[in-house]
Amino acid sequence: MSEGTQQFRSDAAIDALRARRSGHNFDANADLADETLEALVEDATYAPSSYNLQPWEFVAIQDDDRLDELVDIAYGQQHLKEAGTAILVAGHTDPKTADRVFEEWVEAGRFDAETGEEIKAQTVAGYESDRAGRDYAVRNASLAAQNLLLSAHARGLTATPMTGFDFEAAAEFVDLPADTVPVVLIAVGPSGGDEPERLPRRGVDEVLHRERR
Ligand SMILES: Cc1cc2nc3c(=O)[nH]c(=O)nc-3n(C[C@H](O)[C@H](O)[C@H](O)COP(=O)(O)O)c2cc1C
Repeated sequence: MSEGTQQFRSDAAIDALRARRSGHNFDANADLADETLEALVEDATYAPSSYNLQPWEFVAIQDDDRLDELVDIAYGQQHLKEAGTAILVAGHTDPKTADRVFEEWVEAGRFDAETGEEIKAQTVAGYESDRAGRDYAVRNASLAAQNLLLSAHARGLTATPMTGFDFEAAAEFVDLPADTVPVVLIAVGPSGGDEPERLPRRGVDEVLHRERR
């Protein structure tokens, strides 16, 4: 089998994903511009998602008093406050965007109407169990969160994904509806300087398995 032709597209993207860090050193005196917040979220929305259902929501917390409360919800992780912006990435446990999105597939001529209806029904049925619904929320929103982290890095910001927080308290804190679950909290803001050396990564020899584990 041939390896096919492959033209390198972007060194910058590879550099960004290899250099991205979970930073804890924020400039507590600098704010994130509102257009940067919007750009970060827009970049996050370019993540892939199951049938393009985009089952994610982003809640930005920037008010000082609210950040103090959020630090408590995150078991005292003060860097949330120092970052100046916390973004809760949440995921839908129910494919509630299905009507709209499958209509878009049909309108774009990618499915005929009947096939669109069939795939929609299968998709909705596939996420009915609690377990499948949660998996759906977490998988898709996690991909969006990673986009956001890479975007923050590319924009010269510091960002850290966090799951060290009380999920139920966070859901209540930002008024998430019952069909939307917190997935990851991201502390993001202007950098306050260098970060410590990255910890080692497990090597490709250890993590890459061919055909079977
Ligand atoms: C699911 C997940 C949860 C994490 N939770 C926290 C957290 O609660 N607080 C924190 O400071 N960092 C948290 N991190 C950041 C990790 O410590 C960090 O990604 C890891 O040490 C690797 O470092 P790097 O991201 O700089 O490469 C979390 C990362 C992930 C992916």
